[in-house]
Amino acid sequence: MNKFKKNNKSSELPIFIETMKEEDLDEILAIEKICFPTPWTRDMFLQELALDIAFNFVAKAKKNDTIKVVGYVCFWFFAGETHILNLAVSPEYQGKGIATKLLEYVHNLAIKKEGFLVFLEVRPSNKKALSLYKKMGYKVEGIRKKYYNDTGEDAIIMEKRLQEGKNEKK
Ligand SMILES: CC(C)(COP(=O)(O)OP(=O)(O)OC[C@H]1O[C@@H](n2cnc3c(N)ncnc32)[C@H](O)[C@@H]1OP(=O)(O)O)[C@@H](O)C(=O)NCCC(=O)NCCS
Repeated sequence: MNKFKKNNKSSELPIFIETMKEEDLDEILAIEKICFPTPWTRDMFLQELALDIAFNFVAKAKKNDTIKVVGYVCFWFFAGETHILNLAVSPEYQGKGIATKLLEYVHNLAIKKEGFLVFLEVRPSNKKALSLYKKMGYKVEGIRKKYYNDTGEDAIIMEKRLQEGKNEKK
């Protein structure tokens, strides 16, 4: 069976999602450096790969007969709560529904594990990400003052409830 999923939007790209492995890190680090002012280092990714509560997935696509990493997501799952720590899509593959698919994958996995809440921090200046999270049903829950060391920016905390009637956070 072809493991590339067919998508609906004409701009969308067939991708598959799999567990991140150490051998994916060269490609991930290249994307990370373009996407973030303070990119994660190889050691930071390696720490995540070794951590029990950490889950790390890559989106891959076929380009000229080679399989490339086009995006990735890193999160922690603990006590029913999912904390998304990193999400990025390679610039040449942005706008093709890949982040949407990665987040849907995270939500479905969290629901399977009886998770009830997903939350994350985002820069107020990151309009693309804010728009993505709103579209995916995340709501603004608060602010972490001066959260980002590099710019001193606050972080907006956004969260999405997955299952009504399950454990409550507050
Ligand atoms: C934010 C990011 C992950 C979105 O990835 P993507 O694969 O391009 O997103 P999708 O194609 O799934 O788009 C989903 C939604 O995101 C928003 N979005 C995506 N690109 C956008 C753009 N150029 N301008 C405004 N909103 C945009 C839209 O709401 C879009 O929904 P729509 O297609 O119905 O308009 C990507 O731009 C990225 O990697 N940015 C750099 C790293 C980053 O900021 N990560 C998030 C840290 S909190």
